[in-house]
Amino acid sequence: MPRKPVGKLLLFGATGDLAQRMLLPSLYGLHADGLLPDGLTITGTARSENDDASYRAFAKTALEKFVPKDRMDEKAVESFLVRVGYQPLDATDIDHYKQLSDKVGDVSGGLAIFLSTAPSLFEAVIRGLEGAGLAGETVRIGLEKPLGYDLASSREINDTVATAFPEERTFRIDHYLGKETVQNILALRFGNSFFEPVWNARGIDNVQITISETVGLEERAAYYDGAGALRDMVANHMLQLLALVAMEPPARFDGNAIRDEKAKVFRSLRQIKPEDAARDTVTGQYGPGASGGEIVRSYTDELEKASTTETFVAIKAHVDNWRWQGVPFYLRTGKRMPTRRSEIAIQFKPVPHSMFSNRGGLLQPNVLIIRLQPEEYVQLLVMAKEPGLDREGIRLREVPLNLSLDAEFAGSRRRIAYERLLLDLIEGDQTLFVRRDEVEAQWTWIDAIREGWVANDMKPKSYPSGSWGPSAAVALTERDGVTWQDD
Ligand code: BG6
Repeated sequence: MPRKPVGKLLLFGATGDLAQRMLLPSLYGLHADGLLPDGLTITGTARSENDDASYRAFAKTALEKFVPKDRMDEKAVESFLVRVGYQPLDATDIDHYKQLSDKVGDVSGGLAIFLSTAPSLFEAVIRGLEGAGLAGETVRIGLEKPLGYDLASSREINDTVATAFPEERTFRIDHYLGKETVQNILALRFGNSFFEPVWNARGIDNVQITISETVGLEERAAYYDGAGALRDMVANHMLQLLALVAMEPPARFDGNAIRDEKAKVFRSLRQIKPEDAARDTVTGQYGPGASGGEIVRSYTDELEKASTTETFVAIKAHVDNWRWQGVPFYLRTGKRMPTRRSEIAIQFKPVPHSMFSNRGGLLQPNVLIIRLQPEEYVQLLVMAKEPGLDREGIRLREVPLNLSLDAEFAGSRRRIAYERLLLDLIEGDQTLFVRRDEVEAQWTWIDAIREGWVANDMKPKSYPSGSWGPSAAVALTERDGVTWQDD
């Protein structure tokens, strides 16, 4: 489909948590900066009985709560709310879609739908949209996770969507791809000449990807307990990060070129066999402890029932291709960790020979750290000589070459990931959305891990809240002589 901004936006789940925290504030941010197409209308829909006026009041409250004070501008808020309307919808009632379509009005100038719904409702929603004329050529659909819980269910959802929306009008969201520093991985790798020659098994010893969070279950028991960390974080965000680190250089910055390369990485992931699951993966569930400065309860206490859902997972992965042969990719993510941090650490190979060893100088391998959040920086740890006359031997120390993106780009506002993604959806740019073949290759790899857990009757090990997960996660890397970066 040619890239053309749509004139209308339809938000499902318009009264939900994501809408309040992310979608409405993002749309407001774009509006305030004059980035939304003139006349773009935003129709919210959900089950609850609201009308335009009450939904506008709801939206205003969400903005007051979630938009930083210095970004709130009374005039901009008022003119934003003029765009907003609401139509209640029982997603399972086919008759309701006619009313929805009447509310949205003529879609010949283009409609973008943002759909976040329970997997069980996909069939009803897609049929309803189609029946009401809200799935034609001028309509594109953005899909928020969870899009299934394994390969089979994800195929089912994607098949259902595909009956009404071809792939070029389907935008699967992984909000990590909307983050500025995640896109910066591409700039770092492919906008500089000095990394690429060593960006392979000859130059790199191992890659570590960590997404740690201090939050626990939050208000998401119904979803999270059925998902767990592997599906919630690894099957999407962590694998996307891995792909951006591991992929071959795409020829162009466009949706096909970039997604082709990512898909190849997913297809090259070495399947973890059931007999290796206990060796190459670790699962955990948080117990009581202290995290993010508070005393917190265990997962099962928060849930108020017994559960074997993992809130932590660590995996030793391999990308079986020429470039990455023999290089482990260690992934770990968990809730109730000591700090909130998303980070990629690339550990380079040691120098082949140390000329300092006879003078007592110790070397450490270089490490490139890409910190995605909460701070945004790139750090290269390099060896330097400590000042001195070296009478007692040469002292060498690891020091950081620092690129603080926060400081370097202090004047430019960091947008939340959904601002970028909603604008791309409105404008029809698929580059930062996930293609179906990527998703299916991701699930194929994830399903094999889960099968291994079932086959070995692996249950998550308890870890204290505020720790870096079960001790087995440390052993996962130490066994290879590797230490998790910065524990
Ligand atoms: C979501 C997960 O996709 O990502 C959540 O469902 C998680 O469990 C969140 O907390 C993390 O996102 P971010 O942007 O805060 O790192």
